Amino acid sequence: MRLKNRLIISFFIITLVPVLIFTALMLALRRLAIELTENQLLGHQIIYSVKSYLDESGKFDQMVLNFCVAEFIILFLTAVLMIIWIYKGVAPQLKMLKVAANNIKEGNLDFSVASAGVDEMSELCNAFEDMRIRLKNNAKDRLEDEAEQRALISNIAHDLKTPITAIKGYAEGMLDGVADSPEKREKYIRTIYNKANEMNTLINELTLYSNIDTNKIPYNFQKLNLHNYFSDCIEELGMDLENQHIRLDYSNFVDPDVLIIADPEQLGRIIHNIISNSVKYMRADVPSKIAIVIKDVGDFVQIEITDNGKGIATHDLPYVFDRFYRADASRNSAAGGSGIGLSIVKKIIEDHGGKIWVTSKENEGTTMCFVMRKYEESPIVS
Ligand SMILES: Nc1ncnc2c1ncn2[C@@H]1O[C@H](COP(=O)(O)OP(=O)(O)OP(=O)(O)O)[C@@H](O)[C@H]1O
Ligand SMILES: [Mg+2]
Repeated sequence: MRLKNRLIISFFIITLVPVLIFTALMLALRRLAIELTENQLLGHQIIYSVKSYLDESGKFDQMVLNFCVAEFIILFLTAVLMIIWIYKGVAPQLKMLKVAANNIKEGNLDFSVASAGVDEMSELCNAFEDMRIRLKNNAKDRLEDEAEQRALISNIAHDLKTPITAIKGYAEGMLDGVADSPEKREKYIRTIYNKANEMNTLINELTLYSNIDTNKIPYNFQKLNLHNYFSDCIEELGMDLENQHIRLDYSNFVDPDVLIIADPEQLGRIIHNIISNSVKYMRADVPSKIAIVIKDVGDFVQIEITDNGKGIATHDLPYVFDRFYRADASRNSAAGGSGIGLSIVKKIIEDHGGKIWVTSKENEGTTMCFVMRKYEESPIVS
């Protein structure tokens, strides 16, 4: 039943029922007063008074009628006011919710049903508003995801196209007999092999990224001694970088017995991805340097990796941890990459409860900083 009809029925019940009850009561008293004798009436004050009114012919009936009319008028006016008051308090919000529900049905989420009141209807409107905001955010996330998927496809297409074009070109060269000496043939085959390897690395990176992103890689968290871990790591890195004529400086200001909880393989991936960026975006005009500094910052250890490479433009800085983001300069440069290295780094660090940020100046260099929580043995309280 509609609210309006319900209120009209309530209105008649409120105004008529008391009048009918009163009339029935008066008729019963009247009957008693007629039927009972003087003696029987002794001690029944009300019925006695009714009888004395009845004796003055017509006075009782007139009084009952007047009372009924007065009661009806009072109840009528009170009920009208109350029903208008209730209807006005509920109807606008109900109308608003109806419009809102229709908007949602049509897919329009740009409206507001927030209410400043504290009554149940306002609570309902606010709950509806929360639902609308959540739906809108979900729709926005979905659009972003779709845009990301499109970016992913176009990035993969772009990154796979370069090695594939090279492979195709060298294979055609061989088919056309351009590689007419064993040395040339070997060179062509080696290039095809290297390009296929590039594609393999890219596909592995993409698979790793999608696995990490969907939490399909289980972490193998362990207590790691920071000193020992980095000593081994620096030894390996140092040799690698020395072969590429890059100087590596290392300083560790953390107590030798400090432990962290981390997955050693994934921590290695973090360092590898950051260092490989430093190597990839080096400048040709200065001797290349990379410095790793580890500091104690209370409950955390802070690892800073600084290079003196090309740096990142200020307008690119906020986005370098986004998936598939490559600064313009590097997108156009010959340096390969799909722009997922740092997003993998960020995800792994956040899964370890840490944080990463970057500072950089174009043509001066870049510093990647990240923190990881120290492992504290909690004292056993007895
Ligand atoms: N040390 C650095 N020096 C200069 N630019 C950097 C450095 N590190 C990152 N960048 C910039 O940030 C972008 C994102 O880096 P990220 O590692 O995510 O992608 P990528 O290196 O381009 O590709 P991938 O790592 O997937 O092979 C890079 O394209 C580059 O422009
Ligand atoms: Mg990278």
